[in-house]
Amino acid sequence: MTETLGPSEALAVADELRDVYFSAFGAPGYDETPEKADQFATEQLPLHATRPGFKLVLTRSAGAITGFAYGFTGDRGQWWSDRIAEVAPEIADVWVGGHFEIVELAVATSAQRQGLGAELHDALLAGLPHNKALLSTYVDDRPAPRLYRRKGWHLLLPELTPNAALYGKQL
Ligand SMILES: CC(C)(COP(=O)(O)OP(=O)(O)OC[C@H]1O[C@@H](n2cnc3c(N)ncnc32)[C@H](O)[C@@H]1OP(=O)(O)O)[C@@H](O)C(=O)NCCC(=O)NCCS
Repeated sequence: MTETLGPSEALAVADELRDVYFSAFGAPGYDETPEKADQFATEQLPLHATRPGFKLVLTRSAGAITGFAYGFTGDRGQWWSDRIAEVAPEIADVWVGGHFEIVELAVATSAQRQGLGAELHDALLAGLPHNKALLSTYVDDRPAPRLYRRKGWHLLLPELTPNAALYGKQL
């Protein structure tokens, strides 16, 4: 069962989201630092919460947040969209602008492999007015790219940034 949050509700739980972020991305093999998790909660999320179409979904267990996913309406003039336009203008012409951009999907390590990632993915995309969506994820074989491919995402660009591939999905 997921909950859907708008910008101010999401910022109100930023500290808890930070802890889930650090559990997922601080795990061995991901190796992000506590400082990066802090930056997620104090800079990245507040910036993205101002973007049009911001939507965050989360799951809880006994009241505690176990996983979350969020995105917003992507457009040129944003760093990530401009990066796509720079690296692959022909892909940007078709995909960038008015798309839904999935920015993060994270499940705390203790709650993984129970279907929450798939549930969060589906809840985030459910009912969106957008007709296409974009995301970037790991190049190597791991749970996130496997999940996205199962969910019908297509590889558009093997290396958008070092170690990050670009995927697209028609909604
Ligand atoms: C990617 C991520 C969000 C997936 O979360 P999750 O809740 O474990 O996702 P799911 O449970 O839906 O699926 C994960 C795996 O568990 C399996 N699984 C799901 N339910 C299961 C169950 N009841 N019993 C056994 N396995 C199960 C799935 O088949 C899948 O297997 P696979 O990795 O071999 O393809 C999580 O691994 C994570 O947070 N990773 C670190 C951060 C990250 O990579 N985020 C994405 C960045 S783009």
